[in-house]
Amino acid sequence: MLKLLINASQIVTCNSYGKNYKRGSELADLEVLTEHFIVVENGIIKDILPNSSLQKFQSAIKINLKDKIILPGLVECHTHTAFAGSRANEFRQKIAGIHYEEIAKNGGGIISTVNAVRNSSLNDLVELMTPRVKEFISQGVTTLEIKSGYGLDFENEIKLLHAIKVINEIFPIDIVSTFLGAHTFPPEFKNNHSGYVDLIVDKIIPHIAKNKLSEFCDGFCEATAFTSKEIDKIFNAASNAALKLKLHTEQFNNVGGLDVALKHNAISVDHLEVIKESDYSKFKNVETICVLLPGVSFFLDYQFAPARKLIENNAIIALATDYNPGSSHIINLHLIMSLAAIKMKMKIEEIINAVTINAAKALCRENSIGSIEIGKKADFAVFNTNEYSDIVYSVGRNLISHTIKNGEIIYQRPE
Ligand code: NIG
Ligand code: FE
Repeated sequence: MLKLLINASQIVTCNSYGKNYKRGSELADLEVLTEHFIVVENGIIKDILPNSSLQKFQSAIKINLKDKIILPGLVECHTHTAFAGSRANEFRQKIAGIHYEEIAKNGGGIISTVNAVRNSSLNDLVELMTPRVKEFISQGVTTLEIKSGYGLDFENEIKLLHAIKVINEIFPIDIVSTFLGAHTFPPEFKNNHSGYVDLIVDKIIPHIAKNKLSEFCDGFCEATAFTSKEIDKIFNAASNAALKLKLHTEQFNNVGGLDVALKHNAISVDHLEVIKESDYSKFKNVETICVLLPGVSFFLDYQFAPARKLIENNAIIALATDYNPGSSHIINLHLIMSLAAIKMKMKIEEIINAVTINAAKALCRENSIGSIEIGKKADFAVFNTNEYSDIVYSVGRNLISHTIKNGEIIYQRPE
């Protein structure tokens, strides 16, 4: 049965005319159609036609989107949604002036969440994640990446990945699973870093690959976490196991993470708040995506990644919440979009491409999602406005009216 989305004031397609990502100045190109409707068949976009053709579809189901706009379903490409516990006490310390890295050095930070996860069952984790995933869906998110990284031993990393798998089965959106065992060193390996790297390389990665528990392997290359040499070893093992690569890097210090990620052709490098000026040009000719996370800079109150400089240097930019309990307790992709505008001076058009087509590329799904084009999945975020600027301008407000996944309405905002 054909389904039509009709009467929308704008259809923001984010079309990249076959390229399926936007780099540098292309990032500001948004294709916006008016007086058009979308034809959906079997969960796929079958056509996008001018209103003059509407009479040919008398018998189709029609969804009336008058006074609304249609965007591609939003793609949230970097989250740590799989966590337990609260770090509100650390938030208090941060407000009082204690640095995030200082808190981590004193046994807080990631490790305090690790303790909470180790004390949680698989069911507890699924229950904790459920309202969070609903929250993303209510924002128009139709593809959501979730990392492990708060288990930090075989049993608990695998438990987190199983919880992510269960969530993928429960919810109609696509959940993308990333293994982040190299998030930090667990207390039992505090004085034996090579022992933990060996555990990841020899035991956890082979198990994940064999059981298809993750698509990506991520790491944290930082003075307080993994060295570039350790990441290199982990990335070699992950690539051999056919996992795709991502790296948290240049967040607080430059310790060689960027180069090791580029050497391995990582799909994305995430953070880049402190990237060196001499490194900007490294993105000119590579397809590694810069996933920028302005929520972290806002939450921890420090410098933002140099988005404009990276765009000038022809990089491919995506944006995400980095939703996590310690450095970005912000479960609101729309707020991140507004922060990108206000604090990183990204244009509204650039921001929309950065949470759709480029975020899809950061998850290697750019051929099937991220833009409204014939043949792609019928995933849409429908907003209650007549003009797309309102999404970014309405800071902290959720203007979503419908979230549509594979052609089905999976969320509708109560009137
Ligand atoms: O992306 N940088 C490392 N990991 C997370 C923070 C995790 C935490 O503090 O719990 C991040 O910022
Ligand atoms: Fe992160």
